[in-house]
Amino acid sequence: MARLSGKTAIVTGAARGIGAAIARRFAAEGAAVVVADILADLAAETAAGIAQATGQRVIALTCDISDAGSIAAMHKAARDALGPIDVLVNNAGVNVFREPLQSTEADWARCMAVDLEGAWLCTRAVLPDMIARRDGAVINIISNHAMTVMRGTFPYPVAKHALLGLTRSLALEYAGRGISINAISPGYTDTALAQEVFDKSPDPAKARRDVEARQPPGRLCRPDEVAAVAVLLASDEARFMVGENVVIDGGVSIRMYEDGI
Ligand SMILES: NC(=O)c1ccc[n+]([C@@H]2O[C@H](COP(=O)([O-])OP(=O)(O)OC[C@H]3O[C@@H](n4cnc5c(N)ncnc54)[C@H](O)[C@@H]3O)[C@@H](O)[C@H]2O)c1
Repeated sequence: MARLSGKTAIVTGAARGIGAAIARRFAAEGAAVVVADILADLAAETAAGIAQATGQRVIALTCDISDAGSIAAMHKAARDALGPIDVLVNNAGVNVFREPLQSTEADWARCMAVDLEGAWLCTRAVLPDMIARRDGAVINIISNHAMTVMRGTFPYPVAKHALLGLTRSLALEYAGRGISINAISPGYTDTALAQEVFDKSPDPAKARRDVEARQPPGRLCRPDEVAAVAVLLASDEARFMVGENVVIDGGVSIRMYEDGI
């Protein structure tokens, strides 16, 4: 039986990558889905492809999650089209990777706006309906950068650590009102975002092989592996999970030394 039938979900940053995989899997599990993304054309293409493949109501809405007005407009359009939102996946994010003293105020502001504050602003938009109906799930896509850090990636881990704090803070606040708020922390996942990191190296193919070799399973995470856990957290089966952070990083963050076995 479809695990999300009758539910309506917004997935931010769903035009591609992990968000697109979550939107696809949610629709396959019976949910109506909003593909919300700053990339309007790609979002429309992704939504149309998922709708065709699944037969579900899947719509694309253009939204910049660093802009409260844009979020309000997206939420209103989503609600008008599909009704109150049962599930929000805060997935949209950007890599801002710098040596701290080389980073600018604009780097900091962009990273915090997209990787942290956007999740709060989107959650704030959907919470009143969820509270009124005493039902809802919010899933924040964080990163293993929320538990461990790498040199040269500032201030991304600052935002991702804070997103874990946001998850826990809101989870406890609203657990008694029927709302489940949890997180997923993927490790290196095979998306355009990861490819952008490889492409910055002089030999992108070698950079990819090196990163694959450092993952205990010897490969990158697949977006559909993140989507599978998102289905659980979105479903009624996970309602006793409060402020959890499900790590899907192939064991990288439990390893004692970077090159340890
Ligand atoms: N790929 C990885 O290795 C990895 C690992 C850990 C965590 N993550 C996290 O997973 C999430 C998805 O990453 P991905 O790899 O699929 O990235 P991606 O770049 O492939 O997809 C991100 C999507 O977010 C959208 N987006 C960016 N800024 C936006 C904004 N201001 N408003 C609305 N949409 C916006 C982009 O247009 C894009 O479609 C991010 O939060 C990222 O930090 C990724």
